[in-house]
Amino acid sequence: MRAPAATVAHVQHLLAQVNQFLKDPVPPALERALRTVPRHRFLPDRIWRSDGQGGYDPFDRASDPGRWLDAAYSDAPLVTQFTDDLPTSSASMPSMVLRTLLLAGLGAPSRALNVMELGTATGFNSAVLCALLGDQAVTTIELDTTLAEQGERNLRAAGYTPKVIRGDAADGWPDDAPYDVILATFSVDRIPPAWMAQTVPGGRIVTPWNSAWCCYGTLALTAGQDGSAQGRFHPFASYMPMRRPHPTTRDAPGPAATDRPTHSTTSMLSPWAVAGGDLDAEFHVGLTVPGTSFAWDTSGDHAPVRLEVADGMGPSWATVDYDGHHSDRFVVAQYGPRQLWDEIGAAYDRWHTLGRPGVDQHGLTIDATGTHTAWVEAAGGRHTVQVARSR
Ligand SMILES: C[S@@+](CC[C@H](N)C(=O)[O-])C[C@H]1O[C@@H](n2cnc3c(N)ncnc32)[C@H](O)[C@@H]1O
Repeated sequence: MRAPAATVAHVQHLLAQVNQFLKDPVPPALERALRTVPRHRFLPDRIWRSDGQGGYDPFDRASDPGRWLDAAYSDAPLVTQFTDDLPTSSASMPSMVLRTLLLAGLGAPSRALNVMELGTATGFNSAVLCALLGDQAVTTIELDTTLAEQGERNLRAAGYTPKVIRGDAADGWPDDAPYDVILATFSVDRIPPAWMAQTVPGGRIVTPWNSAWCCYGTLALTAGQDGSAQGRFHPFASYMPMRRPHPTTRDAPGPAATDRPTHSTTSMLSPWAVAGGDLDAEFHVGLTVPGTSFAWDTSGDHAPVRLEVADGMGPSWATVDYDGHHSDRFVVAQYGPRQLWDEIGAAYDRWHTLGRPGVDQHGLTIDATGTHTAWVEAAGGRHTVQVARSR
């Protein structure tokens, strides 16, 4: 099907939205790259945009080309594939693409660089990199073979020829290493050792972040001389998690599988404080209480609302009820070797004591053995908040 043509007005509109979102004007080199790459040529015939309420609105090129084209030039992430009703690929939000490039130090490139992008998908981000740095500078990796083929077709059709690799981005691509910049376009909870090994000293690794608790934040690391890396988190955005070629699924027992709490009590900590949308608090809890996820049960079977907390790596779980009468006392049940609600309470107290630090006051140091150490800069100092085991 022939794509409807984007007008100058579409591109101007997109740039205005991006500038507004980023607050600062986009550097000229990045603006040129964004103007050059026609986003609509990287999108499939059907795309979906979030409706802001947990659902997605479809846009069809065939039935409503004008509406589809307007969506293509909106500063929004566009879902391009669902698997089992969950989005598994998308075209990233243009302002986030540019913000990530800025964090990677690519706002005004002054020398030839070697860049690896992870998560090719539509190819749009790779095309922006090619427009900025030249095709020779860009290697991109996609796990999903169908998406990799489509992404490569989109790139070729638009005139770009980066190296497109079908494979698992966790392994990087050693053949073209070392890279000045590694840019992920999915989120991770650890930095794979291959990314560290394949970055030049002084190079940048920029990746969206997730924890089991909170999928939010972007980490920008600078590689050291000795195989280590260090950097800060930044308060944007929410990207789909990295997929693995052979996912290991294990079912945490959770409250439904056992009814023998080891510990039942009440808590002064409101479940809303840590799971109600305060991203700074949720980010801190996720970073410092590893492997712990939550879900809200609003069925009313137990209490007006119940927060269910689970340990993804073991049998522990906790529930926290709001009884509908007291807003300062919450009924807690905990089961298993980890007292999860106590861990979360300790993380919340620390966050509060440190002056409720924002995402950008948090950072990560990874030593040459791969040990991840998270820290917070607050109250006049740097505080280690979690030392994870090396992998
Ligand atoms: C948000 S999309 C990327 C957007 C893309 N850069 C663009 O400009 O359209 C994330 C992509 O990462 C891919 N992905 C997830 N895990 C991966 C992995 N382990 N290796 C390579 N690609 C992966 C997904 O298949 C998906 O296509």
